[in-house]
Amino acid sequence: MRTFFDLISQTRSCRRFDPSRIVTEEELRRLAEAAMLSPSARNAQVLRYALISDPAETEGLYRHLVPGGSYSAEDRGALSYRPAAFVMILGPVNPSKFTLMDVGIAAQSVNLAANAMGLKACMCGAFNEQYACDLIRAKGIEELVPHLVLAVGAPAENTSWEVFSGEGKPTYRREPEGQIVQKLPLDTLIVYPARHN
Ligand SMILES: Cc1cc2nc3c(=O)[nH]c(=O)nc-3n(C[C@H](O)[C@H](O)[C@H](O)COP(=O)(O)O)c2cc1C
Repeated sequence: MRTFFDLISQTRSCRRFDPSRIVTEEELRRLAEAAMLSPSARNAQVLRYALISDPAETEGLYRHLVPGGSYSAEDRGALSYRPAAFVMILGPVNPSKFTLMDVGIAAQSVNLAANAMGLKACMCGAFNEQYACDLIRAKGIEELVPHLVLAVGAPAENTSWEVFSGEGKPTYRREPEGQIVQKLPLDTLIVYPARHN
């Protein structure tokens, strides 16, 4: 059985998907259910979800976001690696601090759920807000705006992580075996109590 720590260790952002593997409506609803079951400040539950799986809409949205800002332009965003679906997290136009916290929590629930279901995801904060807004307006959704979108699909590349031990800022990169993301050491993150080895 996969433990929670196996799951979160394997829950890495994926930026190359297999668009031919359809994400079903039931799978997308399960992802929204994971968000539904998440904590919400004051239990206000102001977030809503748009589940996008129409191929033309998915491609259109994919063309209007940045999958992998750290990659060179040619290594980023090839249409052949687009995701089969998106979960859009919608909320009020002027979100409070707590609403934005809710967005992050819901996003990670969707991310973990996708991985638990054998799919992969990538949170995308760098998207064309006007385009994404027009997409939901065309569906008759007024007053809400997209705060974060998650690309979702079957992975077309391996993803793993390593401890960052170099100088400068941690990043992610692509190697022949797949994408590797660097994580700061635990003892850098825990500022108190310091551990003296
Ligand atoms: C709020 C938020 C916004 C993000 N936006 C993007 C994005 O626009 N494009 C992208 O490729 N990744 C995006 N990411 C994914 C991060 O780059 C990724 O989480 C980070 O590199 C660590 O990798 P990991 O998710 O595999 O642990 C975002 C992550 C978060 C939490």
